Amino acid sequence: MDLMEMLSESKAYIESRLDGRKPVIGLILGSGLGDMADSIENAVVIDYHDIPHFPVSTVPGHKGRLVIGELEGRTVLCMQGRFHYYEGYSMDEVVYPIRTMKMLGINGLFLTNAAGCVNKEWKAGDLMLIADHIKLIAENPLRGKNPDELGSRFFDMTQAYDKELLAVAEKAASDIGISVRKGVYMLFTGPSFETAAEVRFARLAGADAVGMSTVPEAIAASHMRMHTIGISCLTNMAAGILDQPLNHEEVLETGERVKKTFSSLVREIVKRWPDDRL
Ligand code: HPA
Repeated sequence: MDLMEMLSESKAYIESRLDGRKPVIGLILGSGLGDMADSIENAVVIDYHDIPHFPVSTVPGHKGRLVIGELEGRTVLCMQGRFHYYEGYSMDEVVYPIRTMKMLGINGLFLTNAAGCVNKEWKAGDLMLIADHIKLIAENPLRGKNPDELGSRFFDMTQAYDKELLAVAEKAASDIGISVRKGVYMLFTGPSFETAAEVRFARLAGADAVGMSTVPEAIAASHMRMHTIGISCLTNMAAGILDQPLNHEEVLETGERVKKTFSSLVREIVKRWPDDRL
C-alpha cells in the first residue's frame, strides 16, 4: 500500500477517536520522561496497537500509546514511547508517527530524549535545548522515492530546530528559574552505548550530547516544514568521561530525578508556543 494511503487510514482512525479535538502540537516523550503524559487533561488514550499501520514500541520504560488532550490550554498529541532505529524499525517506520501528526494538521513538534552528556563542563541531570544535530551514521529517513505530497526532494535543515522556538524556550526557562544548556546532539544508532573513543570523537566533532533518537524525527519534520524544538535530558556522562560503565537504569533514574523540572519547562514552552509556529 502507498504511504499516503496508509497515512490517511491512520489519520482517519485517530480522528474517529478524538471527538472533534484538533491537536496542534506533537510531543514525544523520551526514556524515563513518559510520566508527563499523565498530566494531560481530558485525555483520549490510543494504543499504538490499535492504529492501522502504526509500529509498536518494545523498550522498557516506553509505554506505546498516544495521549491526546489539553496541556496549558493547548491541545497536544503526546507519544508516550517512540520508535527507535535500533529496535529494528526502518527509518520510514521511525518517522511514521511524525507524518501522521502532519496529516492530522499538527505543525508544532516538541521532541524530547534522554542523552549522554559529552560536554565535560556540564553534568548529569542538566537539560539541553537542541540547537542543532549531527547525523554521521544511520540512513536518512528521506532516502528513496520522495513523498512529494509531504515535502520536496531537497530541503533545508538550517531551521530544523526552530530559532524562534529556541528563543522562546530560553526565555521561558529563565523566567521560571530553570537553568538550561544549549548544544549539539549527535546521533548514534545504538543499542550499544558509545565507546569512550566515539565519545571523544563526538566532542571533537562539536557535539555536546549523544543519543539514539530524535534526529530522524527532526529530519522528517523539516521535510514537512513543521516547527520543531528538542530538549535532551542529559541522564549520564557519556562513556569514558567518568571511570564507570553505563547502564539503562541510570538513564531511567536520572529521568526520574529531573522529571518535575523537565515537565515544568515543557509546560511553560507549550504555554508560550507562538501561534505562528502552529
Ligand atoms: N548514549 C546514547 N544514548 C543515551 C545515553 C548515552 O550515553 N544516555 C541516554 N541515552
